Amino acid sequence: MPRQARALDVISAGDLFVDLIMSGFPSWPVPGTEAFATDFHREIGGGAAITACGMARLGSRSALLGVVGADTGEWVANQLNSCGVVTSELRFDPAEPTAFSVAISTPEDRTFLTFPGSNRRFSATLAEAAADGRLARARHVHLAWAPDLENAPSLFEATRRNGCSISLDVGWHEKWLADARAMALMPLIDIFFPNETEARKMTGELEPEKILRKFEAAGAKRVALKLGPDGAALLWDGEILRTGPTPVRPLDTIGAGDSFNAGFLHSWLRGESPVTCLRAANFCGASSTEAYGGIDGFPDAERVERELKMNSNE
Ligand SMILES: Nc1ncnc2c1ncn2[C@@H]1O[C@H](COP(=O)(O)OP(=O)(O)OP(=O)(O)O)[C@@H](O)[C@H]1O
Ligand SMILES: [Mg+2]
Repeated sequence: MPRQARALDVISAGDLFVDLIMSGFPSWPVPGTEAFATDFHREIGGGAAITACGMARLGSRSALLGVVGADTGEWVANQLNSCGVVTSELRFDPAEPTAFSVAISTPEDRTFLTFPGSNRRFSATLAEAAADGRLARARHVHLAWAPDLENAPSLFEATRRNGCSISLDVGWHEKWLADARAMALMPLIDIFFPNETEARKMTGELEPEKILRKFEAAGAKRVALKLGPDGAALLWDGEILRTGPTPVRPLDTIGAGDSFNAGFLHSWLRGESPVTCLRAANFCGASSTEAYGGIDGFPDAERVERELKMNSNE
């Protein structure tokens, strides 16, 4: 799909959260008592938002499709706008608050208490956008979400009728990943973005190469397999490519996978080669670990360009 033919390069769609992050507790909160944090910050969470922001930072025309509540919806929209994300596909639910997580952050771990709120309207909102042709504003639809396995084939077909290519990052949903119908979706999507644990669950294989061949046997054309501190592997039209990690000092790995997706999709939609897409993705994923959350550490286009040039001289 030529770039000029559509107003947007990508619509990222999925569950949205407001993360309320408290840290600096003197000790782990004990049930039945009150614990006081010394630090607090609020940020947008959810893979779709992180990928949408990353792609916008790199220069893609990127919109977010999700549902927010009347309570904090304006704040979410402002945050997205300040990242350069188009918010015309954001829907406001008058009855529910925006989904939120209260996160207790300690140096060892983060624990989330989550209320799904307006995300309960997401599935119906996405189906409506596919049915009424609104997805056709974009060249590509990225789903950061576990679609209902019964309805997923018809949702993907409807998305195709909008003329969009499709990518999917399901995240850790154990039942979904173990269901045989999940593998049957592989021929229906253009790029699948699992991490190692998710891919092992789906394929029953342990080694990256075997995992990717199993996806290929199920009809997958392209799978970008995220291997955390080991980098990533890619199945691309029958070929397998590997890349080692970009050396970083990780501070917080939340959102690394979604940042990887953003780097990959931005390059792919610009028509770059598979190896360039993989290197860009690997760099964006690694960089995102150097700051808290998934958005602050995301590199700009110039840094990615520089990294790719260095890499290609090796
Ligand atoms: N410690 C690290 N060092 C270098 N690169 C890293 C590191 N952690 C993550 N990355 C990069 O980020 C990519 C995605 O990370 P990971 O495999 O953790 O994805 P994920 O589990 O889907 O993440 P998320 O928590 O965002 O869902 C990796 O494939 C790699 O390119
Ligand atoms: Mg992930």
